[in-house]
Amino acid sequence: MLYICNAMKTKLIGTNDGSFTLTNEYFGETYHSINGAVSESVHIFINLGLRNFKNSEINILEIGYGTGLNAMLTYIENIQLGNVIKYHSIEKYPIDDADFMEYAARNTQISEKIEGKTLKDFCIGWDKEIETSNNFKLYKQVVDFNEFIPSNNYDLIYFDAFSPETQPEMWSEENLRKIIDRLVPDGFFVTYCSKGIVKQALRNLGMTVRRMPGPAGKRHVLQAQKSSQSNIL
Ligand SMILES: C[S@@+](CC[C@H](N)C(=O)[O-])C[C@H]1O[C@@H](n2cnc3c(N)ncnc32)[C@H](O)[C@@H]1O
Repeated sequence: MLYICNAMKTKLIGTNDGSFTLTNEYFGETYHSINGAVSESVHIFINLGLRNFKNSEINILEIGYGTGLNAMLTYIENIQLGNVIKYHSIEKYPIDDADFMEYAARNTQISEKIEGKTLKDFCIGWDKEIETSNNFKLYKQVVDFNEFIPSNNYDLIYFDAFSPETQPEMWSEENLRKIIDRLVPDGFFVTYCSKGIVKQALRNLGMTVRRMPGPAGKRHVLQAQKSSQSNIL
């Protein structure tokens, strides 16, 4: 099945777990794995990232808001986990409001679990903090990661840029440093990419890097943790 979306030349396509992703013609990439968009995001960002926290106050930073899938999955999973979350996501090329809504609506396994008004919060409204519920504040910021200067500290980073082959600058040690510097001691960084160059950059920044089994169609993903003796800026 193929549905055409307009902004940024994206197309909605089905993936192997029955959920949807977008293809981005400009970058020649999909926003998630075609082996399963929801199952990939749950495996990496929820299971290896969010689930390290329960009944805590946490700040999450996401690089690459895309369709908002990671944000929505975080919101849903957190109903069980009971954290108070400030979720800050950055995006240089936001997709159209209508495409967001269509993406969320097509992914019924997501949209059925989020009330209509809250679902809209994930799709519409940039550059202001929205209180989607008592324990979930969402701040979607339009900014280029290469120019982004974080002003908060974070407990968890979801690094979900397009691949190093397509956008090597996003994965540069210099770019990673500015967010790792803002990760609290014991904080987590998770990403789908387990390339040697990414592992080495994270190690150079003092992170303990763990190569973890990947979701369907992917051998490994990365979970990295900051040392408890580290400083933050
Ligand atoms: C793999 S997709 C993210 C998928 C997303 N996390 C989701 O749940 O749908 C990568 C995202 O990075 C964004 N991006 C590309 N270049 C960027 C940049 N320089 N700064 C910030 N975001 C960028 C893309 O527009 C795209 O939305």
